[in-house]
Amino acid sequence: MVQNTVLPALGFSWLAFASPLTKRVLSPDNTCGGANGYTCNPNSVGGGSCCSASGQCGYTAAFCGTGCQSAFGKCFGTSPAATQSGGVYNVALGTGETASYTNANTFNFAGASALPAGLVASNYQIGDASTKPYSRTFLPEDVIVSGGGYMQLKIPGGQTTAPLKCAQVVTAATNIKYASVRTTAIFSSVAGSCHGIFFYANDNQELDIEYLTNSSSTSNPGDGSKPMQYTNQPTSTTTNGAHDTAPSPSDATTVAHEYRMDWVAGKTLFYLDGVLQKVFTVSVPSVPGPWMWNNWA
Ligand SMILES: *[C@@H]1O[C@H](CO)[C@@H](O)[C@H](O)[C@H]1NC(C)=O
Repeated sequence: MVQNTVLPALGFSWLAFASPLTKRVLSPDNTCGGANGYTCNPNSVGGGSCCSASGQCGYTAAFCGTGCQSAFGKCFGTSPAATQSGGVYNVALGTGETASYTNANTFNFAGASALPAGLVASNYQIGDASTKPYSRTFLPEDVIVSGGGYMQLKIPGGQTTAPLKCAQVVTAATNIKYASVRTTAIFSSVAGSCHGIFFYANDNQELDIEYLTNSSSTSNPGDGSKPMQYTNQPTSTTTNGAHDTAPSPSDATTVAHEYRMDWVAGKTLFYLDGVLQKVFTVSVPSVPGPWMWNNWA
């Protein structure tokens, strides 16, 4: 009887303490913390959702990494799990909105020796002998699940003839329309491949997170960096606002990071380690399709 009266009282005191802490003022000028105690506004131009040690808002490692002030914004970590209510999964978007989805699935490779149900290894060729510079073929043998907690998408080295052997997996579900997809991955340090984490219905209904492992690739900036490449594949090459780059982790090829894309009606959001990096509102797909992960050359 004593415990029954004490426990609800504890619950009330938690709520009472919580409300002053949630009183936050969004930064009007991309400064944060300090005397004003501003919280970073993820929607602010020139800012970002992380508060650096020196009190400036941004979204790169300088703001979200060492010294990041979690009391005044986001810091690199992992995205919060979806919460379930009323038969849907609610996901907090980096912009402060909430999206609801009807299904959820997790593919975990820990202890697995084969692809889990719901993922299919691709087995087809793109292009033929006339394709320049090379056609490619996705082979199930290059999708390797052999313990260690990861699936490997392998491009065998030393290839000199087309089609080049590449690797890809696709969701068995082809009716995905809107999604929040988080992929924990370690990228390759070997130059010459493209890692793709993407939605694909057709060439104009496509969303991509890509990483090009060759720092000299003409699709990389040319300053030695290999940034994240985010794209809503446009219907026209003159479409603005459907592609951008953002800094990738400096240790992307040795440490697992979380790469995330949220797709809602009219908007796509791209995240690194739970921190929003880019938002696009043009060329947003409107038809269902599968999700894909590949490594190609
Ligand atoms: C990297 O890109 C440069 C520029 O396109 C190219 O010359 C070089 O062959 C590429 N290296 C690899 C390993 O693909």
